[in-house]
Amino acid sequence: MRMLVTGAAGFIGGHLSDKLLKEGHEVLGVDNLSAGSLENLPKHKEFEFMRFDIRSRKPMGEACRGVDYIFHLAADPLVKESAERPIDSFDINVHGTVDVLEATRKAGVKGMLFTSTSAVYGDAKLFPTPETHPTVPISNYAASKIAAEAYVSSYSSTYGIRGTVLRYANIFGPRSGHGVMHDFYFKLKKNPDELHMFGNGKQTKSYLYISDCIDATVTAFKKQKASFDIFNVGSDRTYTVDEIAGFVGKHMGLSPKYSYEGGERGWVGDVTKMRLDVRKLKKLTGWKPKVSMKEGVRLYLEWLSTQKV
Ligand SMILES: NC(=O)c1ccc[n+]([C@@H]2O[C@H](COP(=O)([O-])OP(=O)(O)OC[C@H]3O[C@@H](n4cnc5c(N)ncnc54)[C@H](O)[C@@H]3O)[C@@H](O)[C@H]2O)c1
Repeated sequence: MRMLVTGAAGFIGGHLSDKLLKEGHEVLGVDNLSAGSLENLPKHKEFEFMRFDIRSRKPMGEACRGVDYIFHLAADPLVKESAERPIDSFDINVHGTVDVLEATRKAGVKGMLFTSTSAVYGDAKLFPTPETHPTVPISNYAASKIAAEAYVSSYSSTYGIRGTVLRYANIFGPRSGHGVMHDFYFKLKKNPDELHMFGNGKQTKSYLYISDCIDATVTAFKKQKASFDIFNVGSDRTYTVDEIAGFVGKHMGLSPKYSYEGGERGWVGDVTKMRLDVRKLKKLTGWKPKVSMKEGVRLYLEWLSTQKV
């Protein structure tokens, strides 16, 4: 099949493109390189790349010609920044998704998989949190993702475009240029004696290694039965921010003093407790995470040690 991956030069988009190529598909990657890097793009004869903004209708329409399926990952994924730049996250994540859906509809593409986030549940009342839990966003980022999910649903129902929404937990691994482990690693490189953290260190979240996220993504795409469906993607274990600091410090052979800033939330819009119920995806597809937290952290930190700040 011919697949289009938006955000292909990003962390998850690069890995997903690799996987789709490995499975024998042709892949067209689209990215404006606002955050991504050409280094993340596959070097493969069945891979093509187009650099443009997903909100540019002409190239988006042209890119969709002859495409069987779209994996829409391009987004402004930063929670903290969405408080400072609310219009940007709306424009890219909501308006941009509708632009991609419009191009999908006009070109007769069969379906779209959309990457959403665990943040849509806000301060959930039930753990692990199932897909049926109310969504009460506490950040502009999460609000933009919920609005985009709604459009994927409405395009599916109105125009018969198969729609998949994946609500990811925190994904980590090589090529990721943001997130708590990245932040701690480079802070400790600068100052091995002290680690300054946002929040009180007690925020408790679930993390999933990139290869398990990619397997879940491709498996959900293959096995989904309904014309529109939503799946949580995460792991069953949770870790506090203090525990993550412990993993990073231990790997680096350091015992820094911890200092904290803010209150129970690391920043405005930070969800302090997140654990997704992933039984729906497991039951339908048989998928389950394979990489332990210990192994995933080791692989990611080894990769980070090859990177410049
Ligand atoms: N990484 C995580 O932990 C996580 C968790 C939940 C959800 N997600 C979602 O998964 C997707 C991928 O996240 P990621 O971590 O790989 O982020 P990323 O920032 O590494 O990748 C996003 C890519 O989109 C591109 N992009 C941004 N705006 C664009 C635009 N207007 N036009 C074209 N390209 C544009 C960027 O250049 C970047 O390469 C996002 O939709 C994100 O919201 C990620």
